[in-house]
Order: sequence, then C-alpha cells, then structure tokens
Amino acid sequence: MWGARFSDGPADALAALSKSTDFDWRLAPYDIAGSRAHARVLHRAGLLQDTVLEQMLDGLDRLEADVASGAFVPAPSDEDVHSALERGLIERVGPEVGGRLRAGRSRNDQVATLFRMYLRDHARSSAQRVLEVVEALTDQAETHMGVAMPGRTHLQHAQPVLLSHHLLAHAWALLRDVERWQDWDVRADESPYGSGALAGSSLGLDPEAVAADLGFSRSAHNSIDGTAARDFVAEFSFVAAMAAVDVSRIAEEVILWATKEFSFVTLHDAFSTGSSIMPQKKNPDVAELARGKAGRLVGDLAGVMTTLKALPLAYNRDLQEDKEPVFDAVDTLELLLPAFAGMVGTLTFHPERLESLAPQGFSLATDVAEWLVRQGVAFRVAHEVAGACVQACEQRDIELWDLSDDDLTAISEHLTPDVRTVLSVPGSLASRSGKGGTAPDRVREQLAEVRRHAADL
Ligand code: ARG
Repeated sequence: MWGARFSDGPADALAALSKSTDFDWRLAPYDIAGSRAHARVLHRAGLLQDTVLEQMLDGLDRLEADVASGAFVPAPSDEDVHSALERGLIERVGPEVGGRLRAGRSRNDQVATLFRMYLRDHARSSAQRVLEVVEALTDQAETHMGVAMPGRTHLQHAQPVLLSHHLLAHAWALLRDVERWQDWDVRADESPYGSGALAGSSLGLDPEAVAADLGFSRSAHNSIDGTAARDFVAEFSFVAAMAAVDVSRIAEEVILWATKEFSFVTLHDAFSTGSSIMPQKKNPDVAELARGKAGRLVGDLAGVMTTLKALPLAYNRDLQEDKEPVFDAVDTLELLLPAFAGMVGTLTFHPERLESLAPQGFSLATDVAEWLVRQGVAFRVAHEVAGACVQACEQRDIELWDLSDDDLTAISEHLTPDVRTVLSVPGSLASRSGKGGTAPDRVREQLAEVRRHAADL
C-alpha cells in the first residue's frame, strides 16, 4: 500500500504484530458500504467517469457476495480489513479502476466510520436482547402478582414487599441501559468519512453525502476529532458493562434464592447443570456465568479507557487496540443475554415459602411506628415504642402479633389493640400506596408502565 517510499517490505515480525484481520474482518460489510458511498462522491466530484463508477460498484457487489459466501477471505499478507478489501476489489476490476477508490480517503477516516456503523447496529441488537430479559422479568412479575416476600436491606429482613415489585426493580435498571444505548446513538450518529488521514480532503468530496448514504444524520465537524475520537467506543463499552453489571445483580439473587436455605426458587432443568460426582446437585451456572462475565465486561471497558488515556491527536496506531475489547463485550452479551432471559423466564418461584418469610425478622416494626405517627405520636417516640415491642418479642421468642393487649399497653399507652390492623403483611403492603410503593394497586400500574416503556424503546 505504501511501497514506493520503501526499499524493502516489512519484517515478518512487524507484519505479524501489525495484522488485525483476525479480529477486524467482521467490519468487512461496513467497509464495502463505505466504499460504495465513497465511490459515489468521487463520481459526483467529477473524479470518476460514469463507466468507471459502474465498474467499481459492480466490483464491490461481487466482492460483497464473495465475502458473504466465504469465497473471499483475508490473505496472510493483508494487514487489515481495509487493505484486504482493496486487494479484493483490484482483483475483480483491475488496478486501473480499483486503484482509484483510495483517492481522498484514508484508513483513518474509514475505520472510524465503519466502527461507528458496526456499533450502532450492535447497540440495537444488544438492546433488543436486554429487552428480552426485561420481558422475562415482567412476565414473572405478572404471573406472581400479589405474592409477598421479605424485602431486604443489608441482606437482612427489612419490610415486606411484593415479589413483582422486586422483579420490576431489576426491569427498570435494565430499561435505563437500553435508554443509554439510545442516548449514545445520538452522539455516535456522526460520520468521520471525509476527514482523510486527519486534515480533510482537498478533492472537493462531500462528507455530508457520504454520511447520508451510510445512515448518519451528519458528518464530523472536525476532521482531527473525526479520526482520533474513540469516546464513542468507551461509552458503548460502559453501557455494555453496566448492562452486564445490572444482570449480575439479578444473578447473585438467583444464586442465593436457589439455595436450600432460601428455597425461593427452583431452576429449570434446561437452565441448570449437574455435578459429575454429586448426583443430587443442581447448579445455577447461568447465573454464575452472568456474574463472572460482568467482570469480563468491566475489564473490556477498562481496556478501552486505558488505550485512550493520554493518547495525543490525531490517529495513532494504538487505536487499533480499540476493537477487541468492545467486540468481546458485544459477543459476550450476545451469548449471555438469551441464556439469562431463558433462566429468568423458567424460574419456578415458591410463593408459600416467600409469603411465610415475609413477616419474619420483625419486618412489620416500621408499620407499628408509622401507625403510631398516624395516631399523632412523634416519629422519634414511635420508633422507640416499636423498638421496645421488638425487644419484648425477642426476649420471649414470639412475633409482634403475639403481643397481648396488656403487653401492648405496658409498652406504651399509645398502643391500642387497633395497631393489629397493620400487623399483617397484606395490611403493610396496602399501606405503601404512594407512587412507586409496593401496594398491589401501585405495582399493577407499574407493571403496565414497564410494558409500555419497553414497547416504546
Ligand atoms: N487497522 C487500523 C486500525 O484499526 C487502521 C489502519 C490505520 N493505519 C495507519 N497506519 N494509519 O486502527
């Protein structure tokens, strides 16, 4: 590609180091789309005759078909996807026609554009996969509407909540990840084609036309930024890592819930594994892999950020290191999310177990305190009175609702037998009826809201 200035070819060791076709080949369809758009602007600028444009477009069509069928693959001597495809074009249309396409473009603006195209497509497909997990959560929430469970803080029993409320909490987090990819796309929607190596093109080519041709709504405002910027890669990687981290938080709960001690769920056979030595085992491998792969995606993000740190403008070859981490993130999510959605969708919940644990651990103590507040007692006093109830129960190994009328009045004159109206899980749930609360009516509305929101994304 640059032979004239050199008296010798690259050393084998350099060629081996430099080569990127084993990982950038997936950009081939985007490279060919970029070449078509570039051929058209060369033609529009009067730099390609009609017949030459036709031959070139025909050659690109044939090359595209050969790439798709596997008839054209990178040769050992090709450095990257761009140079391999230029060779492929020249093989099909000859050097006189094929050799004209490189005018006014550089691999620097090419790769920056193709990479955006690839990631824009994959932001959509990955988001779709995240929405499948949201759907699995929402379906479970709908099926188990009305089932109470122990809500936790610090992993300790805190207050009863609806299982559906808990599952939807995860759904909202994942919906934000999908929104993040959409917000990201607004910024990624800018084509660097026409930036050339760094300074732009002197050939009168129209970057806006190429941008429109490639599905971008605008072209780069600054050719240096166009070729050197990779924040679009880092930001994509963050969203991917965030989605994986959000999934890992569900995963960790499923792992706990499937233990003998919790017994909240049973995993479906198709989404759990056995042990080669312990015949009784049923392991939550999907959830564990989700938890593990979240670490991998965080590593991918760190890799991209570290490549960019302190890198001077404009293009530097370090930037070739921007691809593998984010490709890994995309591939990992593509493997993980369908399995994860399948696991969530096939979980069998055990409502009796969840319900029986919901009021345990004195999780209705806050209800006693808030009932007292509604009777006009200051919260500071109410908190102490409810705490005294818990202490009395703990000493006698009984539950709050076992306290007799006399026990109650002995603790505080404010504790009339009426307090028992809130000493039940349904009473507690129903009382949390403000927007976003766990009252059954609110959660039913919330479920509809999640479904509406997911459909709009
Ligand atoms: N393969 C390179 C990359 O991914 C693009 C080639 C640019 N090379 C160059 N020497 N300017 O970044």
